[in-house]
This record gives sequence, structure tokens and C-alpha cells, in this order.
Amino acid sequence: MSIAILDYGSQYTQLIARRVRELRVYCELFPWDTPGQEVLAIAPQGLILSGGPASVYENSAPFLPPYILESKLPLLGICYGMQLLVQELGGKVAPSSQREYGLSEITASDDNALLPPGTYQVWMSHRDRVETLPPDFASLAASGSCPFAAIGDCKRRIYGLQFHPEVVHTPGGLGMLQRFIVDICGATADWTPRSIIQSAVKSIQQQVGKQNVLAAVSGGVDSSVAAALVHKALGAQLSAVFVDTGLLRQGECDQVKTALRTQLGPGLHIVNAGQTFLSALHNVNDPEQKRSIIGETFIRVFEAQARKLNKPRFLVQGTIYPDVVESRAPERAKAQRIKTHHNVGGLPEHMDFELVEPLRYLFKDEVRAVGEALGLSEELVWRQPFPGPGLAVRCLGNVTEQRLTKLRAADFIFRQELIAAGLLNQHFPKGQGIAQAFAVLLPVRSVGVMGDQRTYQEIIALRAVTSQDFMTADWARLPQELLARAANRIVNEVAGVNRVVYDITSKPPATIEWE
Ligand code: XMP
Repeated sequence: MSIAILDYGSQYTQLIARRVRELRVYCELFPWDTPGQEVLAIAPQGLILSGGPASVYENSAPFLPPYILESKLPLLGICYGMQLLVQELGGKVAPSSQREYGLSEITASDDNALLPPGTYQVWMSHRDRVETLPPDFASLAASGSCPFAAIGDCKRRIYGLQFHPEVVHTPGGLGMLQRFIVDICGATADWTPRSIIQSAVKSIQQQVGKQNVLAAVSGGVDSSVAAALVHKALGAQLSAVFVDTGLLRQGECDQVKTALRTQLGPGLHIVNAGQTFLSALHNVNDPEQKRSIIGETFIRVFEAQARKLNKPRFLVQGTIYPDVVESRAPERAKAQRIKTHHNVGGLPEHMDFELVEPLRYLFKDEVRAVGEALGLSEELVWRQPFPGPGLAVRCLGNVTEQRLTKLRAADFIFRQELIAAGLLNQHFPKGQGIAQAFAVLLPVRSVGVMGDQRTYQEIIALRAVTSQDFMTADWARLPQELLARAANRIVNEVAGVNRVVYDITSKPPATIEWE
């Protein structure tokens, strides 16, 4: 059971896929010009054509490959996708003088499978509009300014929506997608964590056979779930390596080790490399240099451990679906590199491994659901994002054991206070609650007074943000009493800190981490 989504370049295309998956139907995204046999190879029961920035009457505009109509599958065109269908089937699309952008109200009057009669609030974002319908098409809904807000040829099961059913501003949108996918395409909701696990286990076993497999685990959600899936499929054929960089938060290393040990058993190899990382970082202040040193050191330590293991041929990577989709985006659409991210996904290219990527088709919320279904601990499944370079990028300036100890203590107090206030909600995926909260140690000293003594000590900055996707973020409006309590405790309990500040910048222009 699956649905194929053809991507015509809309910023919302991934969202369509997420919505379909929310309906527990498997779907895949394909660039619009993917060869037909590749798209049809997933045996889709229906096709969705996304929106996109082009105009159908421009010469070089993306078009409708012939296999789409020839397939006779149910089709749903959204915005640009709808306009393509209209043009191809003999209707007319024309530029309108005004771009229609924002909320609109549409009314559906005729009974049909996609839009039962009623009034719907929808999100419009288009410049071109349908002027004339193709033969056999009818208008299914209209707004004051748009007579063809939804159209369809119900007999041939071809539908078009001028608005975006996939965004939250179209509250009935999920219902529309559901009616298309379930009622019109006849797909069943069988994409559940259990079925995901079953099919992943089968395909891992097929890919790997009797060979040995290596995984790097960091305690982050993706690498833990990927390793747990491979472990379920292959048991003792898996060796997982956890490199303790000495750069985790207070208590975290033991917590992660225990959770991973429970999950992976004797196949887990722990390398205590704290001293190696500290020496490599000695007197390094530049953020990018820190990141690159940590990345390289990680690879060295990991390779040394891998050599001791029984000749693994495969390497597990926790690549998830948004990474795959984004890596296919045209160069110009990729974001400019602000920070060189280091994570265990970025393992050495020269290592001669074949990759096992069991999460390659999963969104983050699906990865979490699979993790839960596999019995991974709550701390692992709902862990807040933590940068690969760890506390090194929160310990601004020189990274030393002494400064890390200060930072850990302050960070622990801050998070303790947030937990006590019920604000550090572990389950944050829908953008609720605080997405990330931590302390940063600044490389400057300021004057203070404690008792009758002058002090000249370092500063802690507290950072707490709300965010849906970590691409943008806002600073959390924490209760003043909580901030006061955290600040008071930090200067009293953490030796060498005499001042605490709260970071009130959003992202952009700041980033979430300070380095
Ligand atoms: P910034 O600081 O760029 O961070 O706003 C966005 C999100 O990414 C996390 N982050 C990282 N994650 N490796 C990671 O896996 C890294 O090197 C890294 N650097 C930042 C950051 O914590 C935030 O959630």
C-alpha cells in the first residue's frame, strides 16, 4: 500500500509526505522528472502532484510526464499540480493580476468523495489561476474570488486543489487527504511502527546475510533506533561502538551507556576517550576548528576500535528521510553552511563499508514511534537534540576539564529547575514546550561581590528556546522566579561563576548554540 508524491518544488512538499504518513499510509517523494518505472516500482495506489514555484505556461516549466495519466491511477494535484492537470487535460490556466496569499474560505456544495458539502477555511498561495475547466471536470468548491478552488473529474478520479491541504492553516486538510488516499485510492492504514519494524528487519536480513555489521552510537535518537533495529534483525552480528568523548552533560554518559547496554547487550563496545579529546582540544578557541578537531578525533578513535572487531563489512547509518530529501534538493536551494555539523552519521567516507540505513524512509516522529515500539528507554527516545561536538561548543573559549565541570554543574541546576517547574517537557515533538534548554560558559570574567569580597569570575549564559524544526527558534519566555532561582543557585553552588545572564535572541539572527 503506498502513495507516490511528485515534487514540483513547493516548500510544502515534505509536509504532504508527513501528512500521508500521519494517516499511516506509506508514501515516497520523487522529483517530478523521476523516470516513470522508478515511481511505479513502489506500486502506488494513487499519485499526488505537489505545488511549485513555476507557471505552467512558461517554456521551461516542469511538466506532466505521460506515464502519469497513462497509469489511470487516482490523481490529486495541489496548486501547481492542479494547474498542470488542467492544462494537460484541455482546460486553461492564466496569470491573475493579483497573487492570492493567505487564509480564504471556500464552500463546497455538491456531494463528492473529496469534499463533502460545507464551508472550509483554507490556505491559498498562488499567482496563476484556472480559467476554464477541462472537459468532464466540475468545480467542487469555490471562494468569493476563486470559482475553482477544488475541482474534479470524479469518474476518472482526478482531483485538483488550488489551496494547500497539507498546512496547519487548512484545518480540514488532513480529512481531505484522508478521503483521497483512503476512500478514493483505497489505501489501507497499515504503516504502523510494528509493520515498519517487520519490514526493516526483513530487509536488513536480506541485505546483510551472515556478514558482520558495525554501528556508531551516540545516545541520540537516530543512531540508537537504527542500531536497535539492526540488533533485532541480526543479534550478535552487530557490534556497536559508543565513543565517550567526555563532552556529555552531567550524568548523561552513564545514563546513555546503561540504556544502550540494555538494548544492545554484549555487542556494545564503550571507548573512554575523554582524555584524547581534551588533549586534541587543548588551547583551541575557534568554533569551526573545535568542530573539525572533534570530527577527526572521533573518526580516529572509532577506526581504532573498528580494527579490533571481527571484520565488519557493513556500517549502520542513522540517515533519516528529511536528510535524503534535502540532499536531492538543487544546490541553490540548500542552506548556506553556518556550522559544520558533526554527528555519527558523518563517518569516514574512505572506510570501505557498505551502508545499512534502516531509517532512510522515516520521519523523525516515526523514528521515535519505532524506538518506543522496540522498547528503547524514554530518555533515549525523547532525548532533546544535543550537538555532536557536545559541551565543547557550549564551553566558549578553551575547553578544559575544570571549565567543563563548571559548565556541567550550572547546566544541571538549570535543567533541574526547569524539570521541577514542569517546563522541560520530554515530549516536545509538535513544537510544544521547550525544545532545548542548556547553559553556556562564557570566556570572559566580570567583577562581583560575595560577602565582603571582590570576585572576578566567569559568566554563565542560560539558553532556552521554543522551536518546531530547529531551523528557526524563539527564546522561551521563562517565569522570572524560575530564572531568579536558577541564577541564585548557580552563583552559590558553582565555584568560579559570579554572574548569570539569559539569552533573549531568536534564531535568526542568532543560532541556538553559541558556537
Ligand atoms: P544551531 O546552533 O545551528 O542548531 O541553531 C540547530 C540545532 O542543531 C543542533 N546542532 C547539532 N547537531 N551536530 C548535531 O547533530 C552538530 O554538530 C550540531 N550543532 C548544532 C543544535 O543543538 C540545535 O538543536
